[in-house]
Amino acid sequence: MATARAYTNIALIKYWGKRDSQQMLPWNSSLSLTLDQFYTETKVTFLPKRSQQQQDEFIFAGVAQPISAKVTRVLSLIRQQADLTNFARIETDNHVPTSAGLASSASAFAALAAAGARAAGLTLDQRQLSILARHGSGSASRSIAGGFVVWHAGHDDQSSYAESLLPRVDFPIVVIAVLVDQRPKKVLSSTGMAQSVLTSPFYQAWVNTAEAGIETMTAAIKARDIPQIGALAEANAMQMHATTLSAVPPFTYFAPLTLRIWELVQAIRIKGLNCYLTLDAGPNPKLICARQDAERVIKALQKDEPQLRYTVCGPGPGVTYIEQTK
Ligand code: PMV
Repeated sequence: MATARAYTNIALIKYWGKRDSQQMLPWNSSLSLTLDQFYTETKVTFLPKRSQQQQDEFIFAGVAQPISAKVTRVLSLIRQQADLTNFARIETDNHVPTSAGLASSASAFAALAAAGARAAGLTLDQRQLSILARHGSGSASRSIAGGFVVWHAGHDDQSSYAESLLPRVDFPIVVIAVLVDQRPKKVLSSTGMAQSVLTSPFYQAWVNTAEAGIETMTAAIKARDIPQIGALAEANAMQMHATTLSAVPPFTYFAPLTLRIWELVQAIRIKGLNCYLTLDAGPNPKLICARQDAERVIKALQKDEPQLRYTVCGPGPGVTYIEQTK
């Protein structure tokens, strides 16, 4: 058995669309920051052959749940690599501010890949773990590593992996998670992506722009230029969302409050406070700013939206193993 902890990440240059959904290969490379607030802890136990258990078991927050196809896919890959046929028990917990609607498949599959591989007796390096986690969810490939992380799109299974660009972040960037809605998303990311790829006339422009964005974002990170990182991330997020508005039929992940927060962020910026917005496949925005500005940003937003929950996240570490106590 083995237990691993992995943190969520926020993409600054997004992954939005697969060119191979069997192998989970993306159309473009992406770049993220691993966060230090929200994480998943997962324990995997391979059961002895003599055990009564006749199938894999999945226990989420202490409650047995049906096992998803994606979890089974990652487990099967682990068993294949380790030459095992034993069933597994997976016990997992999400650590997010109570019912914050911020749980993520990225931390879940990164923790599953790391715990599962070790429980099976495999010794995988970060690159191999990233490839394994990618088969559960694309964004999980990036939660294996800490700090700023780039996921190289690659051209086949082994060349599509993520690695740290800057594992130890030595400048005060933070991400403020704003909770506007805790309900499950209306359009799953995999469905939304497929719809954008198939029907948006802007899709190829998205791929080209995002790919070029990796280089400019890397330069901004190396220059420790928080306003430039934020401005590039906001532009990239809106370009991604333009592929949903231009899909047929069109759809959006913006809720009225998401748009309201974006308006407020723009107003805050005009007043001279550097703060930028990014958004994934759900209505809860993430704001990028310097740590010393976070309190003022939150105060300014609270003036209009006092009922919302704001969580300040710093850069987080890559996946780690938790020592067993028994
Ligand atoms: O891999 P998934 O299904 O978690 O998709 C992630 C998609 C976005 O969050 C919108 C972008 C990203 O790169 O994380």
